Formats: sequence, structure tokens, C-alpha cells
Amino acid sequence: MAIPRIAVLVSGRGSNLAALIDAEQRGALGGAVSAVISNKAGATALAVAARHGIATELVDHRELADRDAFDAALAAAVEASEPDLVVLAGFMRILGPAFVRRYEGRMLNIHPSLLPSYPGLDTHRRVLADGARVHGCTVHFVTADVDHGPIVAQASLEVRHDDDPASLAARILALEHALLPAAVRAFCEGRVVIEGRQVRVREPGAAAELT
Ligand code: GRF
Repeated sequence: MAIPRIAVLVSGRGSNLAALIDAEQRGALGGAVSAVISNKAGATALAVAARHGIATELVDHRELADRDAFDAALAAAVEASEPDLVVLAGFMRILGPAFVRRYEGRMLNIHPSLLPSYPGLDTHRRVLADGARVHGCTVHFVTADVDHGPIVAQASLEVRHDDDPASLAARILALEHALLPAAVRAFCEGRVVIEGRQVRVREPGAAAELT
């Protein structure tokens, strides 16, 4: 069977992209990162991709008239890479409904909180401000409702009394770097089934469940 092709959408640093590439190189991704597409010129993530010989594309939202034009250009770039899976890894633009519909059930996002708590930005500061004792990250399917799609996987940690937003961000990022490749692998290996709001993820090697 052909190796699943993965298009990764990025806007910035690219550490989650690097974790995906690292997993692929270790034979632990179940797929191949075949394209990296950024909406930001100069994103470090583009350099990460280029360093590994992965095709990159820039779809600069500032050069496109409106959201529809951006979505259309982005869809063309993504489609050109013929992906089986689209992964948003630090992609900081909200996608329009047509784009989301096109990749429904095959587009994942990594978010730095335990959804459905703390959707949106600035999660680490908000967690600390609320005095929450547990925090984490989530991989979920992307739906039109931002940060609310069916949850595939989560990882958590206990907030320390001496945590600040930077220390929390660093500790959560380490969790993200394990969680995202594992979720992508499960998807690529056909072990992820969406059942309404719930997602069933079978263990590797587990026999297909009889229903
Ligand atoms: C990560 O914290 C991710 O959860 C969030 O944006 C950040 C991206 O970091 N969506 P990087 O670009 O992967 O280093």
C-alpha cells in the first residue's frame, strides 16, 4: 500500500513539524511529510522543511485580497501535494468553512490546552491565571468551530507552583512533540475512527474490533 502523504501547514517556529519529520525518519510516523505550506514568509518552519528536502510553499495571506482568496490559494497549494492527511502544526490562520469541509475527517490540529478547556490563544497564561492544577495539549480533527473538533489524543501534566507561562509552554511543548506524531501515526495506520463527537483510536496491532 502507498505510504500516506501528509501536508503540514505552519506559521512559525516549526518544532512540531520537526518532531513529525524526526518520527518519520525513525520509521514511527506511518506516513511521509510530503509538503510544508506556510502563510508566513520567513517562518522558521520553512527552513526546517527545506533542510530535510521537503517541498515548501508560501501562501502569504497579506498578498491575497480576502479570506476567500486566501482559502482558495491555500486549497490549491494543499491539493497540489495530493495529501491523505493535512496537519496544522502551529498554523495561526482561521480556515474558512469551504476549506474545512474539503478536508473534513482528514485534517488534524495540535492545540496547547486540554480542550474543550482553553480554546484560542494564550493558553498557558490563562491556565495560570485561573489556578488550574492540570494542563496539557490536544490533537483534534479540525471542524468549522475553531478548537472544537473531535478529540483524538491528549497529554497532561500537573501545573507546578513555580510555573510561569514560559516554563509551562516548554513543558507542554515536550508533550506535544510526542503526542502529535503518535496521533498522526494512528491516523496513517487506519486506527482512528470518528464516531460523532467521539474518536476511537485502536492500539497498534490490535485486531479490528467486530461491531
Ligand atoms: C504549539 O504550541 C502548538 O500547539 C500551537 O502553536 C505552537 C506551534 O509551535 N498550535 P511550533 O511552530 O510547532 O514550534
